[in-house]
Amino acid sequence: MHKLEKHSTPEATSWWQTGIFYEVYLRSFKDSSGDGIGDLRGVLQQLDYLEWLGVTAIWLTPFYPSPMKDFGYDISDYTAVHPLFGTMEDFEELVAAVHQRGMKLVVDFVPNHTSDQHPWFKESRSSIDNPKRDWYYWKDAKSDGRPPNNWLGVLGGSAWERDEQSGQYYYHAFLKEQPDLNLRNPDVQEAILDVMRFWLNKGVDGFRVDVMWHLAKDEKWRDNPRNPNFKSSMPDCDQLLQVFSCDQPEVHAIVRRFRDLLDEYEDKVLMGELYLSMDKTIRYYGEEQRGAQMPGNFQLLFLPWKAEDIGIAIDQYEAALPDKAWPNWNIGNHDRPRLISRIGEAQTKVAALLLLTLRGTPTMYYGDEIGMQNVTIPKNEIQDPQGLLMPDKNLSRDPIRTPMQWDATENSGFTTGKPWLRLDENFKENNVETQRNDPSSLLHFYRRLIALRQKEPSLYSGDYYPVVTNGKLLAFIRKEPGSISFLVVLNLTGDAVVYEPKEERRKGKIILSIQAENEGQPFEFGFTLAGNEGVIVSLEGCE
Ligand code: GLC
Repeated sequence: MHKLEKHSTPEATSWWQTGIFYEVYLRSFKDSSGDGIGDLRGVLQQLDYLEWLGVTAIWLTPFYPSPMKDFGYDISDYTAVHPLFGTMEDFEELVAAVHQRGMKLVVDFVPNHTSDQHPWFKESRSSIDNPKRDWYYWKDAKSDGRPPNNWLGVLGGSAWERDEQSGQYYYHAFLKEQPDLNLRNPDVQEAILDVMRFWLNKGVDGFRVDVMWHLAKDEKWRDNPRNPNFKSSMPDCDQLLQVFSCDQPEVHAIVRRFRDLLDEYEDKVLMGELYLSMDKTIRYYGEEQRGAQMPGNFQLLFLPWKAEDIGIAIDQYEAALPDKAWPNWNIGNHDRPRLISRIGEAQTKVAALLLLTLRGTPTMYYGDEIGMQNVTIPKNEIQDPQGLLMPDKNLSRDPIRTPMQWDATENSGFTTGKPWLRLDENFKENNVETQRNDPSSLLHFYRRLIALRQKEPSLYSGDYYPVVTNGKLLAFIRKEPGSISFLVVLNLTGDAVVYEPKEERRKGKIILSIQAENEGQPFEFGFTLAGNEGVIVSLEGCE
């Protein structure tokens, strides 16, 4: 047998390493009150479903008081629950119910910015010598009255807003209603750590830190350089390379403080949202891995859906990971186009197979398990500020956030009221209930895959060995000593393709396959995979 290059796995010990995360976009998951907006009691009602599906950890998007300019990512009180979503008692009940099922709850946490309605900002804005003035970034205009530098807002427009009263500008990486906190200020750090303590004491299992790479900006506030590759279809802020506005070296000390706090509690996780190149992302594990345990690996949200590109990216990621750093993979979220709309319906099961057999913690996005797609929202119904601020660029995130399709009743069982965002017209045919009744559905496929991954040590914690990466096929082995090993073979095209790796000749039995008739069949060199086929081959007794 040929020796394969191994990407080794540290001993998986924690729930966040062996588990499967599921993002609940709260507004759109399940409405219990009839106001058309998803809420905490709605999530409580659907915990049975999540348990049935087999996911083990929920990432819950913001539920805090907010003027909702950026749908909850503009927080006006960090330690309370927005009445739209329920009460603190509902939240406590949710934590208890999740834990009772042996599951975990990770909450979204937004320390980079508050709402402009947060009392901290109101104080900060009230006068130049208010003690909280330095809690945000206030700067004088340039001598000609222009903003302090050329930075642009991520959701569109300038990143600076002039305050009439003082004549100074404040910095906001996102909307003008989302002023950035000055996290270099030790008092701000303390206040933010207190917020984290508050939720940890309520029993949350960790945080998904929003825009982690934005937490420190250039101390000298230098202009960002022009982006020579800018195209008009890109978001406005891409006119500039974000060299100075984010990912500054000082960010790591801030992340480390978060981690130190988490480590005062038992077995908590720090996840970071990071839209950065792979090598930069990896730095967020921190020195001696005292940073985030899950610095978001978002490659699968962007890569062309091609075996070669994906295979190379996996290998590079595996090779770049520091010793013992635990990998993670994301395939969808509330900011990026829906998976099925990116890769096409024919490949959705292949994508599920990939996500749930890679080494590292997978995160799923609600509705991907039933193949929810981007929903066309008429122009006059667009609500997402990114869509409204850059109207000609088709960047609204509403299409990705439509209500969960539960059943074929009115509004798909999401709400008894008027949904805040229209549903996909296909909900009568495509919903959780119809798919639960169809053993060949995508939903059942996810469920089986999840169950297999949770059962088999090689899949949840085994080493990763690349086997084939070519124009069509991606194949790899997962192996944990002392457990059954698995060969995963994926055809990322619609054409039939023969499995003929240069080196790897192990044989086995197909235990899970997109084409049901292949299950139970022998698998070996020369096997022809139909288009869009993917298999998991048990190598038990074949090694
Ligand atoms: C993150 C969130 C996104 C939000 C932004 C500003 O990227 O995922 O939805 O608009 O932060 O808070």
